[in-house]
Amino acid sequence: MHRNFTAAVLVPIVLAIASPAIQAQVQATDAQGHPWYQHAVFYEIYPRSFMDSNGDGVGDLNGIASKLDYLHSLGVDAIWIAPCFPSPQVDFGYDVSDYENIDPMYGTLADFDRLEKLGAEHGIRIILDFVVNHTSDQHPWFIDSRSSRTADKRDWYIWRDGKGKNPPNNWISTFGGSAWQWDSKTDQYYYHFFYPQQPDLNWRNPAVVTAMYGTSEWWYKRGVAGFRLDAVDTLFEDPNLTDNPVLPGTNAFGDPNMVNKYNDKLPEVHTALKGLRAVADKYNAVLIGETWTDNVAELKEYYGAGHDELQMPMDLMLTSLKFSAPVFRDHIKAVQAAGEWPVYVISNHDIVRSWNRYGDGPHNDAIAKDMAAMYLTLRGTPIMYYGEEIGMQNNDPKRREDVKDPIGRRGWPKEKGRDGERTPMQWSDGPNAGFSTGIPWNAIPVTYRTYNVADELKNPNSILNWYKGLLALRHTDPALVEGDYVALDENDPNVLAYLRKSGADAAIVVINMSDAPQTVSFDLSAQGLSAASAQTRLTTQAALKHNASVQQLALEPFAVYIADVK
Ligand code: NOJ
Repeated sequence: MHRNFTAAVLVPIVLAIASPAIQAQVQATDAQGHPWYQHAVFYEIYPRSFMDSNGDGVGDLNGIASKLDYLHSLGVDAIWIAPCFPSPQVDFGYDVSDYENIDPMYGTLADFDRLEKLGAEHGIRIILDFVVNHTSDQHPWFIDSRSSRTADKRDWYIWRDGKGKNPPNNWISTFGGSAWQWDSKTDQYYYHFFYPQQPDLNWRNPAVVTAMYGTSEWWYKRGVAGFRLDAVDTLFEDPNLTDNPVLPGTNAFGDPNMVNKYNDKLPEVHTALKGLRAVADKYNAVLIGETWTDNVAELKEYYGAGHDELQMPMDLMLTSLKFSAPVFRDHIKAVQAAGEWPVYVISNHDIVRSWNRYGDGPHNDAIAKDMAAMYLTLRGTPIMYYGEEIGMQNNDPKRREDVKDPIGRRGWPKEKGRDGERTPMQWSDGPNAGFSTGIPWNAIPVTYRTYNVADELKNPNSILNWYKGLLALRHTDPALVEGDYVALDENDPNVLAYLRKSGADAAIVVINMSDAPQTVSFDLSAQGLSAASAQTRLTTQAALKHNASVQQLALEPFAVYIADVK
């Protein structure tokens, strides 16, 4: 597959628009000495779906390069690109067959280098997705490993004898069925937490550890600013293969419910993360974790007691909370109390889009703006998901035969798979939403006619312009950049309100999370501030644009009001 977008065309255009302001975004620390990633806005790109530069219906690296202007003007400082390495694509790239190359579907290493260079010119760093838990079964390491019981790399994966005619224990794959795959070539089972085509690496083998550290270093030397580490929770398994406790009932795949006590979040994970961090530190790189934690205490552990593990373990708990002021307030309080740098996420390529998930049906656009206002003004780093900023919606397959994600075929109809949240980016109301001149790999929802970048840019009240306003504010308002989080009106069942306060600078954020008008009154004297002197910075409510006090604020349903206070 060839890309038409050559360096010769791309470089002059980008150089022409690279302003000193753009260059200024690329700094290792801020004036207070905080690392760059604490004040950066991250943006996840699912490369199949972002922009197709060569008309084959699949997005690619040159497509991403062509949209750097857009990302910069949106206010993005770093992009995390989901796996773009060579892969049989059983799990759409999360089955890597070569860690140190680019899949031809997405381009070449030269395209990657160019993207990185152009990114730097736009003040946008590149974060890659490191699939550390498993490889593809087509990776040369696994091909060797399965070739014989005495193969050089046999112990790079987890091979065990069965129990009679049964697998070694009761562990199940999170993608359905036993986590053990019988291999008749050597009469043993191998372990896979995900698809059988994704055998788990044996992180207890020092050779594996060295190889994986080396891979990360290989990319750092190429200039990547860090990694999102895939599936870190499941790096280790109990060597005794103790059965997991079984719970009542079955899951969407018909497997017994169980607690993954012996193959999830084992303490050894922290040793591996410390090692990856030591390599990252040599290059000032950042490690983001795909950390599915059950509570804040678990999340805190991922930072490392000596702050020597992940700088950015994702708070994915937020994605399962109900849209509610008290629910969010409690969660934010717990996260703040942990004393670490929070990493907020409201959507990604594995979960139903935030527009649908938090939405109540009639007010989804307003709720999308509320969610953005909240997580983009909190103390912490946000990680956006492409299309969230235009209110993209899930487009789930209607028939089993249309499903592309294997878990959707296996779990249909309870589990429809993840195609719905991975649809092409909606750039315009033109053919294929401006994503491709070919046939898009995944179906675009008809709502692209109104929810698209080109149209939303023209509409001052669009979700996109709301995001742009928030991100601009976040980058420039000292209270939002540096400030502490101070909860206000903690018993209000409808309105989430807080201050961000840094020295003499303070901003108040007020979000009506209900479908009814609410009037709120603030007394900020305890914080040494006057509620009588507000300067509106951003609001969804036209009547509040010139408001100058938060002593009494009459809010429309779902209204957001953000002001500086003194
Ligand atoms: C988490 C990734 O986000 C998901 O898309 C993938 O299927 C699994 N890990 C397995 O790599």
